[in-house]
Amino acid sequence: MYLCGMLAKKLQDKLNLRNEANALRSLSSPPLEGVSKAIDFSSNDYLGFSKNETIFLRASEILEEQNLKQNGATGSRLLSGNHKIYDLAENYIAETHGVEAALIFNSGYDANVGFFSSVPQRGDVILYDEFIHASIRDGIQMSHAKAYKFKHNDLEDLVSKLSLRAQSRSQVNTNQSEIYVVTESVFSMDGDSPDLKAMTHLCEKHEACFVVDEAHALGVFGMGLVDNMALGNPVVRLVTFGKAMGCHGAAILGSDQLKSYLVNFARSLIYTTGLPPHSVATILASYKQLANVTPSAVEGLSDEMKKLNENIQFFRKEIKTKKLQAYFIASDSAIQSAVISGNERVKAISRKLKENGFDVKAILSPTVPAGQERLRFCLHSYNTQSEIETVLELLAKSLEGFSAD
Ligand SMILES: Cc1ncc(COP(=O)(O)O)c(C=O)c1O
Repeated sequence: MYLCGMLAKKLQDKLNLRNEANALRSLSSPPLEGVSKAIDFSSNDYLGFSKNETIFLRASEILEEQNLKQNGATGSRLLSGNHKIYDLAENYIAETHGVEAALIFNSGYDANVGFFSSVPQRGDVILYDEFIHASIRDGIQMSHAKAYKFKHNDLEDLVSKLSLRAQSRSQVNTNQSEIYVVTESVFSMDGDSPDLKAMTHLCEKHEACFVVDEAHALGVFGMGLVDNMALGNPVVRLVTFGKAMGCHGAAILGSDQLKSYLVNFARSLIYTTGLPPHSVATILASYKQLANVTPSAVEGLSDEMKKLNENIQFFRKEIKTKKLQAYFIASDSAIQSAVISGNERVKAISRKLKENGFDVKAILSPTVPAGQERLRFCLHSYNTQSEIETVLELLAKSLEGFSAD
């Protein structure tokens, strides 16, 4: 029972337990005006697009061109909120990725929940990587399909689970039951990537639907790893815009039929107010910025992407020079995680780095499994090599006397 804003005892107990485990989450305040900000090794703004002036101005121009002088969407996309700018943005995104259709959701969280709660049906099977993002897990929980995890990035484990499911499908019924295989192209907590090519072939062989979350790959690896590796359209993709794209929202990329299905059945699209027009204009402007500078995924990288790439290579080199490899998970992406087990220990090192002017977030259990707590370094185009050197020096000093677990 709630009395005068007091939480029920059982809820207070849950908070107390979090506190005792050194895992209590809280919202931190931004630094006061005039106080210098810590150097950013924590945001998802990998290319600095959130502050990119060209994108900002282009978004305003798009709104002017469309004569959209409006602050809010005014309703669900299915009612009054589907402004014409949605069509422009979705067509542009679909064309850029070479797919039939893109459907914009309010966030990556909404897109994953919408897809997984509505597409897999009772009798279907979902095989997902054990480290898959919380938004996919939540969607799966809302689905009536059976779900099984496979070991992280472990092709062998996936092969055995997929073969087993495909076999029982062929024994039990005709082709009534679908199998979905789900992974991320860059894992949000580890920064590593699965063997997407092998997984695509495997899914083709067993007629499974392959779903890839590209949240941390879009913009870091050109238009994402599915495009980079030319994996083609049997893959359903999620792209999000709150990370390298520097704005907000997400899209599911697939067929026209899939789009129509989601418009009819994805509750996180239907029962919520749409994004305001200026958010959609910013998505379009960010995409144009990325697409214009990414004629081919490998060559023609933008200055921002080149800089980010150089910083990733430099960071990896410095890890070796400073003999920190044992702590770091191997990753070619903008996410570089040093596993330092124990909430208190990892928090203490993050605090120390903060005191020295560096913002590196401690990722605690239960967000990651106990014993796998970590410092997650997010690299950006705007980090300098001297910042990277200094922050890793500080890390090495903080770790003196500890051994990698
Ligand atoms: C892999 C992955 N998928 C989906 C999401 C959700 O995206 P959004 O922040 O747009 O809700 C995130 C964000 O943390 C993520 O890391």
